Amino acid sequence: MRLAVITDIHGNWDALVNVLQDIDHSGVDKIFCLGDNIGYGPESDRVIQTLRDREIPSILGNHELAVINREYLAWFNPMARKSLEKTIEMLSDNTLSYLSDLERVLVHGEYRFVHGFPPDSPSTYRYEVPDYKKRRIFETMEEKICFIGHTHDLNLIAYNGETLTSELLVKGPSILSFENRYIISAGSVGQPRDGNNNAKYVIRDESAGTIEVRYIPYDITSVAEKILAAGFPGIHARRLL
Ligand SMILES: [Fe+2]
Repeated sequence: MRLAVITDIHGNWDALVNVLQDIDHSGVDKIFCLGDNIGYGPESDRVIQTLRDREIPSILGNHELAVINREYLAWFNPMARKSLEKTIEMLSDNTLSYLSDLERVLVHGEYRFVHGFPPDSPSTYRYEVPDYKKRRIFETMEEKICFIGHTHDLNLIAYNGETLTSELLVKGPSILSFENRYIISAGSVGQPRDGNNNAKYVIRDESAGTIEVRYIPYDITSVAEKILAAGFPGIHARRLL
């Protein structure tokens, strides 16, 4: 079984298309999406349409949460709020209805999918969780691996029943140990914040026992121009470059 995990597409349809093309050529059996499919980028509605057309299951991100619960929007920084308010104006009724039905958690076999941090938070950042809480979460989590998004970077937390370790995930495959449980930050397709401007996603290969980080180029300049032309905050265009 080869499983692709994509997250934080953030309205960047061009990046999503290139990532899906790569997935289609990578012998992947199943794709899961960790939410934050909207906001920041210029084509949120088109991203949702593509995910739905491809029947890719997605969970709720904090940006989707802010659409269905506008009080939560007050917690966003001013530029993110401005971007999401503009995004909401551009979403179809069909998409709004789809967003309101998203779940906070998906479980598939030994995998758990959550946007922020397990067990089920769409808004908690990984670095906010103290180690004693991480241990407790690992000890009560039934699944072996939890994939998370939200921080837009690539990271692997491992727990062997005693020791917690945390490390950056680098480009290419890394071997996972059968003895450990993991919480894996799967990067960002559409708004990377890890110092490299390619779209990124991960593939879990069960028979090889690996997690692979894939870097996918796309036409960043074109997307930045679309963000500016649509009147979104310029910071979200500059951040892509
Ligand atoms: Fe995000």
